[in-house]
Amino acid sequence: MSILRTDKLTRAFGNFTAVDSLDIAVAKGEIFALLGPNGAGKSTALKMLTTLLPPTSGDAYINDYSIRTQTNEIRKIIGYVPQMLSADGSLTAFENLSLFAKLYDIPSRERKQRVHEALKFMGLENFEHKLVKTYSGGMIRRLEIAQSTLHQPSVLFLDEPTTGLDPIGRKVVWEHIVALQKQFSTTILFTTHLMEEADEICSRVALMTRGKLAIVGSPKELKASLGDSEATLDDVFIHYTADKLAESGSSFHDVSVERKTTRRLG
Ligand SMILES: Nc1ncnc2c1ncn2[C@@H]1O[C@H](COP(=O)(O)OP(=O)(O)OP(=O)(O)O)[C@@H](O)[C@H]1O
Ligand SMILES: [Mg+2]
Repeated sequence: MSILRTDKLTRAFGNFTAVDSLDIAVAKGEIFALLGPNGAGKSTALKMLTTLLPPTSGDAYINDYSIRTQTNEIRKIIGYVPQMLSADGSLTAFENLSLFAKLYDIPSRERKQRVHEALKFMGLENFEHKLVKTYSGGMIRRLEIAQSTLHQPSVLFLDEPTTGLDPIGRKVVWEHIVALQKQFSTTILFTTHLMEEADEICSRVALMTRGKLAIVGSPKELKASLGDSEATLDDVFIHYTADKLAESGSSFHDVSVERKTTRRLG
C-alpha cells in the first residue's frame, strides 16, 4: 500500500515543463531517492509534494489526501527540509526549535519537552544554547531535520540533505534519518547527487531526466538492468541520463554548463 503516489504530476513554467507527467509510488516506511542531473526537476517535484507549489496538471496523494485540494491535511502529516538553509543562525537550536513548535501548534505545556526530545534524538542536546552560526554543516542539517519532524510527520522530504557535508557529517546525518525511519516508520523521500549514498540507503530510487521519469527500481535491480555485474549506480545514472540527453539533442556539455551555473547560484 503506497503512502504517496503521483498521478501524471506536472509543473510548467511558461512553456518550459520542469516536471512532466511524473508517476511514482512510495510505500510506507520506504527510504526513496529522487535522482537526476541538475535541472531534472527534483526540487520542483518536492515543492509540489510539500504543497508549496501547485501543479499545472496532474495530482499527487499522500495518505490519500490530494496535494491540490487538501493542502492543510497534507501539511500536518509531512515534514520538509529544503535545499536552502532553513535555520536561523542568530538564534540557538533551542530557540529555532521553539519557533517551529509554535508553528506546528504543539501545546505550550508540551513544547519544552518536545524540543528537548528532538534535540536529543538528533544528538544536539549539548549544544542547544549555542548560536546556530557556530554549528558545523552537519549539525545544522540535524537541527533542520529536528525542526521539520517536531510534529512527528508520516512522510519526511529532504532536498539534498548531505550536500556540502564531509564524510563524517554525512554519515551522522544518515544515522539520524535512518533512526527516524526505524523508530517511527517515517517514510523518507530525498534527493541527492551522491549515487553511493542512494545505493547504500534506499529501498528504491527514481531517476529523472529533463522532467521525466527515466526508470524506477531498487538499486540492485537498476544495476542488474545494465547487464554488467560490476555496474555501480553511477553507471546507471550515466546510462539512463546520457540516453535521454542524446534523444533530446542535448549533450553532456549542456549538463556540465547547467551544473556550474547552478553551483554559482546555489
Ligand atoms: N520558479 C521557476 N521559474 C522558472 N523556471 C524554474 C523555476 N523553478 C525551477 N525552474 C526550472 O525548472 C528546472 C528544474 O529545476 P529544479 O530546481 O526542480 O531541478 P533539480 O533537479 O532540483 O536540480 P538541482 O540538482 O540542480 O537541484 C530547471 O531548469 C529550473 O531552471
Ligand atoms: Mg534541486
